[in-house]
Amino acid sequence: MDFQFTEEQLMIQKAARDYAQRELIKDVLERDAKAEYPAQHVKALTELGFMGMLVDTKYGGEGMDTISYVLAMEELSKIDSSVSVIMSVNNSLVCYGIEAFGSEEQKEKWLRPLATGEKLGAFLLSEPDAGSDATSQRTLAEDKGDHYLVNGTKNWITSANSASTYILIAQTHPEKGHRGINALMIDRHAPGVTLGPHEDKMGMRSSDTHSVMFTDVIVPKENRLGEDGFGFKFAMKTLEGGRIGIAAQALGIAQGAYERALNYAKERKAFGTEIINHQSVAFKLAEMHMRIEASRMFCLKAAWLKDQNQPYGIASAIAKYWAAETAMFVTTEAVQIHGGYGYVKEYHVERLMREAKLTQIYEGTSEIQKMIISRAIMND
Ligand code: CAA
Repeated sequence: MDFQFTEEQLMIQKAARDYAQRELIKDVLERDAKAEYPAQHVKALTELGFMGMLVDTKYGGEGMDTISYVLAMEELSKIDSSVSVIMSVNNSLVCYGIEAFGSEEQKEKWLRPLATGEKLGAFLLSEPDAGSDATSQRTLAEDKGDHYLVNGTKNWITSANSASTYILIAQTHPEKGHRGINALMIDRHAPGVTLGPHEDKMGMRSSDTHSVMFTDVIVPKENRLGEDGFGFKFAMKTLEGGRIGIAAQALGIAQGAYERALNYAKERKAFGTEIINHQSVAFKLAEMHMRIEASRMFCLKAAWLKDQNQPYGIASAIAKYWAAETAMFVTTEAVQIHGGYGYVKEYHVERLMREAKLTQIYEGTSEIQKMIISRAIMND
């Protein structure tokens, strides 16, 4: 077992760290307050090669491995997860889905512009009544011979406004249940596609999240990814990788909050000494550190399995569960260590705590991860 990173992986980690610590930090509080889309940062990450970092170079991507992706996601998320979620959805849900299951023609047409950063992607699975229970899709993609006619509503869609390429999961044969679902590529500007208002979120406020409505939207058959009825399995397979990205994001949130709490505890004095010298604080930091180390190992293991082309669905569910729970624990403790300062914006830890909460919810709640893991254990 090799715990060393390669030169290339370390370079990518450093590039992400430098950008986050130098640029993202500058306006993160203002963007959070105003819920302002981070257009300039998405552009800069494109120039750094991060928006299509996992895509093969032959389709315009950077051909980097998943370990590098975890390292980059951690560094960016230490500072701002509104930005890292845009990168994660584009890489692991949208680009991966097309690269793994699309035809060569689809890859040329849809994947290349996403990998080069010319376009941005969004993944449309959740619905008003189908969040955790993803088989209960109500959005209809009726088979009309040479095209599908799409009607329905999707909820909580990351990058809904800024993306121009959508992967839509919709039901074509309701009588077949999950085996009747399809995954379709849709241009966000197609006639009949409209957006709900910008969601006023608790955290990750500067990524754009909307509901998306489809009214008689015509989608050519050639836009379907995979065979007829493959859409649900497409979504599940794609989410397996997406969860590595969100696990790494949660790891970064926790690490960011931990570093702030550690620095604060070394400087802040109470009862005649720096508060880190009080066991009540030192033990908190030890607990935070241990849990973060475990998150990092789980993330890297899932990433390594994916890079080795071995099954990684359970490993990614474990990583996502553990890292999200740890992010919530660590950020809460970081606020506690800061006392009153932790509760105001300029110390950042209250924002990290709000961001941590979302990692327990999206790309499958913590309860869904336990469901995936427990089913695997039962079938062992
Ligand atoms: N890979 C391949 N196939 C899979 C699979 C996987 N990982 N998981 C399930 N399947 C298949 C099963 O084999 C089964 O197929 P067959 O009937 O042919 O055997 C079929 O899918 C149905 O599986 P289940 O019976 O297990 O389905 P279920 O309804 O009991 O629940 C679930 C499955 C895991 C709970 C699933 O619904 C799920 O993951 N829910 C959470 C949804 C989610 O993560 N949403 C995130 C939205 S995207 C987002 O958040 C993006 C963002 O903005 C950042």
